Amino acid sequence: MNKKISRFGSRFLGESGTKLLMDDLAQVAGSNNFINLGGGNPARIPKMESVFRSAMCEVLADRQFEEIIGSYDSPQGNESFLEIVCEFLSRNLGWDLTTENIAITTGSQSSFFMLFNLFGGMCVDGVERVIQLPLTPEYIGYGDLLISPDCLVSDRAKIREVGSNLFKYEIDFDLFHVRSNAGAVCFSRPTNPTGNVLSDAEVNQLVSLTGQEGTPLIIDNAYGAPFPNIVLDEIKIPRANHVIHCFSLSKIGLAGLRTGIVVAQPETIKAIKSINAATCLSINGVGAALIARLMVSNEIIRLCNEVVRPFYAEKSILAIEIFRKHLSGIDYRVHVSEGAFFLWLWFPGLPISDQTLYKRLKDRGVLIIPGSFFFHETNCSWEHPKECIRVSFAQSDEALEAGIKIVSEEVKRCCIKST
Ligand SMILES: Cc1ncc(COP(=O)(O)O)c(C=O)c1O
Repeated sequence: MNKKISRFGSRFLGESGTKLLMDDLAQVAGSNNFINLGGGNPARIPKMESVFRSAMCEVLADRQFEEIIGSYDSPQGNESFLEIVCEFLSRNLGWDLTTENIAITTGSQSSFFMLFNLFGGMCVDGVERVIQLPLTPEYIGYGDLLISPDCLVSDRAKIREVGSNLFKYEIDFDLFHVRSNAGAVCFSRPTNPTGNVLSDAEVNQLVSLTGQEGTPLIIDNAYGAPFPNIVLDEIKIPRANHVIHCFSLSKIGLAGLRTGIVVAQPETIKAIKSINAATCLSINGVGAALIARLMVSNEIIRLCNEVVRPFYAEKSILAIEIFRKHLSGIDYRVHVSEGAFFLWLWFPGLPISDQTLYKRLKDRGVLIIPGSFFFHETNCSWEHPKECIRVSFAQSDEALEAGIKIVSEEVKRCCIKST
């Protein structure tokens, strides 16, 4: 490797979970030979696609189009869109905000890059602070974000068996404490990869514990309410000055438009605005333009509740049914599917590693994500991550049937061989 490259840069020449995932997505995009149960692409939902097509036609029909494509907008996001978001959140969540509380980003991945590096790493008071994940497994994309890579730390989830091959991760509040060097605590809700939804009680406890320490609590709502609202039960979204909310337009079907929304205290928003200005000058306004009218009319809430949420709820039931059919006879558990669009499978005592299973499945034309990528511990000694995989169910029913059959065959083959 080129020794003159920075330490930060050298990390991007090696392997990483996010890179593997995105490379797999690119490979699948150019080929018909794979069943993609791997990546985080949202499903192509025809009703949503036609809504976005009409929204684009409206943008094209007036001068707004030339404004959007021809000029750099504010690095905080388009001023009138900030007002629309503000009113939307006040109307639907009862939040009392001004536009100083809101910034638009080029997708929530970039929101997390900015937030993690604002609160994690060497601080001006000389203390090196960490970003603390209160339970893992947690989103793969948090892994590569910190400029000081050792500043991401995580706590292991408690496993609760909930019967009939089902289990659930919970925060182990007997052990959990906000670390004295925590710059921020962060979790996704629903959780990617597990489909877990932290209960309102767990979230309230985290809000209170971080509040007592004056530590920011970052909540990743990429799959959550009020949009895309891929959450099976109603949840409350907490609001407190130290709570930072990240939203994304990706999972309602606009992943290509790279639009994220951060709600935080004005000081944090100012910093995000400045980082946006330094790293990309201004924000692409197409996502905001497509969603703006749907937010003003609140139509986006109806679409999420009546189209997006039921779509994924049905897929989740179907995917679990197919696994149950094909996995009978072996020891397996599925994480309860409470939201997002993934199934998280655990094969206790799996005789091969998750990575080997991933490779064998890729050779058979099926992509999944190995479980260990979602455990953000250096030198993790826990066997559990190697016994888990993530499967996306945002695919056609036919792809789910064919792909899950192959996954199950491969797991059965190695489990039965070893007995
Ligand atoms: C939990 C979670 N957070 C954040 C993101 C990033 O989303 P985006 O950058 O597309 O807004 C993703 C994408 O898959 C995700 O799953």
